Amino acid sequence: MNINGRTIFIPGATSGIGLALALALREKGNTVIIGGRRTELLEQIAAAHPGIGTVRIDTTDQDQISTVAKSVIARWPELDVLVPMAGIMRAEDWTRSGFAAGAEQIVETNLLGPIRLVDAFIDHLRSRPRATIMTVSSGLAFAPLKVTPTYNATKAAIHLLSESIRLQLAGTGVDVIELEPPAVATDLMPGQRDSAVAMPLDDFITEVIEILETQPDATEIQVERVKFLRYGEARGDYDTVVSVLNDQDPH
Ligand SMILES: NC(=O)c1ccc[n+]([C@@H]2O[C@H](COP(=O)([O-])OP(=O)(O)OC[C@H]3O[C@@H](n4cnc5c(N)ncnc54)[C@H](OP(=O)(O)O)[C@@H]3O)[C@@H](O)[C@H]2O)c1
Repeated sequence: MNINGRTIFIPGATSGIGLALALALREKGNTVIIGGRRTELLEQIAAAHPGIGTVRIDTTDQDQISTVAKSVIARWPELDVLVPMAGIMRAEDWTRSGFAAGAEQIVETNLLGPIRLVDAFIDHLRSRPRATIMTVSSGLAFAPLKVTPTYNATKAAIHLLSESIRLQLAGTGVDVIELEPPAVATDLMPGQRDSAVAMPLDDFITEVIEILETQPDATEIQVERVKFLRYGEARGDYDTVVSVLNDQDPH
């Protein structure tokens, strides 16, 4: 992905990976618009980083997605990168009844949100000479963390969705790339920020920007740390990967 002179919308960037990536891409001279539900954070970020675009959006709400997409495209007609970043991760207990409502919320945010966002922006992206959709999956798309079944499943779905729409969009000028973070120290899950196994956020973003700059044709953005999870099956050590992953987990 070329990261020079792009106009990038990242719904799900009031904190964590989305915000850090937004600021790094802005530092590189791109125009960046961030979205999320927490208006106080949007205001703080706008005040601390003049020129950054901010929009309030709940990506579980189809009406808001349609309205926000129209206004973002009207305000930033050069928009040529969409990063559907918003995601939630929750521990679940599938050994007894009562998990379905929570699972539905995870699917709504992590899978339906990106689907609806791409639907809302695809015609505009295709109208640009060159555009990019950067999906956000996870190392957990490739090896299951026991405590988060629905999260893992949504991220596996994002992986195959990315692979599939890349085929459909080939030749249209819209590239599809997939960001595959390993565990990164954010507030995605309680305790994650201080987890010994999570990669420091700054290190992760530095490595991501380096990959984007040095491998502009990469379709999967993989920092070194994620390859343990990503390639277990291909290496033939999947069972070891699954047990190491779950043995390390504090939940
Ligand atoms: N950290 C990791 O270890 C890791 C690993 C692999 C993949 N990822 C993925 O990276 C992405 C970012 O996660 P993070 O680690 O940076 O966690 P985070 O700090 O909790 O960030 C999540 C972001 O998503 C936004 N969001 C959540 N639900 C939303 C909704 N309904 N509408 C709009 N925005 C919503 C949040 O903003 P508001 O609350 O303001 O709406 C926040 O900006 C997620 O997709 C996550 O699955 C993270």
